[in-house]
Amino acid sequence: MKKIIVANWKCNPNSFLKARNLFHDIKKIKTNNLIVVCPSFVHFNIFKFQINNKIKAGAQDVFYKEGAFTGKISASMLKDYKIKYVIIGHSEIRALGETDEQINKKIKSALDHELIPILCVGEKKDEDVKKILESQLKNIISKKIIIAYEPVWAIGTGKFCSSEKANKVLEFIKKRFKNKIIYGGSVNGDVVKNYSNFDGVLVGSASLNSKEFIKIVKNV
Ligand code: 13P
Repeated sequence: MKKIIVANWKCNPNSFLKARNLFHDIKKIKTNNLIVVCPSFVHFNIFKFQINNKIKAGAQDVFYKEGAFTGKISASMLKDYKIKYVIIGHSEIRALGETDEQINKKIKSALDHELIPILCVGEKKDEDVKKILESQLKNIISKKIIIAYEPVWAIGTGKFCSSEKANKVLEFIKKRFKNKIIYGGSVNGDVVKNYSNFDGVLVGSASLNSKEFIKIVKNV
């Protein structure tokens, strides 16, 4: 089955030239899987004329309204730019105060505009994973949504979630939803094999290094 590898570049790289070069390397990857690249909004131009069947364009966030909302980007703007996927509810945005209610509005707006939401869920250190997921997964209102299980303590820390724990959480989600489920949190070319029961991976820092990212795509 086709796996999905999502590259979340976050607030990187710091120039258009670097973003274009990184995308150029990714485009050369030979794979039967699907790669979704989510650059910063200001780097969307890398996608012009360059998208093929194996690589899709994604965004890192979306706002649910249009009008007098300084700094926000709406779903119709993303749609107009041929963006297909959008990450919603990333823990780095939740940490700035985003609530599940706001996430719900973003998801509805994305679905209304035929974007595929990638909903990030996951527990912080010392939090009860099942309790957190029960509440965050209330936002799974469509089978089209891709669920990204990202334990917050494993993001950007190099701390790996054991395959045993990740698989337990996978089973927990699978019992409730038929959606695609991917894993994120310090994924690199070696540990990606630990998450092979998932439908793919969501990659942060390792997606900024083309060699490492190629290894992830090969080993996924
Ligand atoms: P890292 O791969 O850098 O841990 O980031 C994961 C992530 O947050 C992807 O959305």
